[in-house]
Amino acid sequence: MTSPSNDRPADAEAIRLQLRSWPEVEAYLSTRKGVILPLGSTEQHGPTGAIGTDALTAEAVALEVGRRTGVLVAPTQSYGMAEHHLGFPGTVSLQPTTLLAVLHDVVLSLARHGFERIFVINGHGGNIATARGAFAQAHSTAAARGLPVAPRLRCQLANWFMAGPVMREAQRLYGDREGHHATPSEIALTLHLEPTLRGKQRPLPDPAPAGPIHGPADFRQRHPDGRMGSDPFLARVEHGERFLDLAATALSEDLRTFLS
Ligand code: NI
Repeated sequence: MTSPSNDRPADAEAIRLQLRSWPEVEAYLSTRKGVILPLGSTEQHGPTGAIGTDALTAEAVALEVGRRTGVLVAPTQSYGMAEHHLGFPGTVSLQPTTLLAVLHDVVLSLARHGFERIFVINGHGGNIATARGAFAQAHSTAAARGLPVAPRLRCQLANWFMAGPVMREAQRLYGDREGHHATPSEIALTLHLEPTLRGKQRPLPDPAPAGPIHGPADFRQRHPDGRMGSDPFLARVEHGERFLDLAATALSEDLRTFLS
């Protein structure tokens, strides 16, 4: 492979695990132990946002972090834990136990080959608790199976939308209209990534406020159009480009610390 060794910017293609052969991965592992796993969700994002918002954004940030650091990026896990969004067509959810099992198996597969640092770039708040549970389970299994990397195996969750510079920029641009779901920051990033989404932007009535999250029927009743306190009409293409850069800068720094 066009071997992205320590911290030199790599080609976007060179860091995609899907485009590498096994001898290339073996060669990579002889000098590097890190891998990035993008984690998203396939769920409603308000009346104008794309169903794939959380997967598209996590993948874009992951590929940019990979390009900047030379760390391989595994295929995106585009299905997440979205049970409370199932009241809206298009949402596809994994139950927490299913997602936990998927992440556990992905981590164990990577660890078996010698990956010691698994950096999960996440785009969906609903995945956080389950991802942490999966990491705990993976550590336990790696030790029980006697994997050589078990003592050195580390998993870290990096939620791009919660990075300090991203949250501060969202606050500066949108104030309390950033809201909690179908937020203008994440929608702006999708507008930057996907030109076909730009024509869907339109003014919307005041959103329902954020509240407690229970089942899908309750969620749809409380949040009839899917938004939680957000105004995605404020999103702009150029904001999205800025959020991508801010997220990639912050998470690249976190990844370098994690690998060192
Ligand atoms: Ni989202």
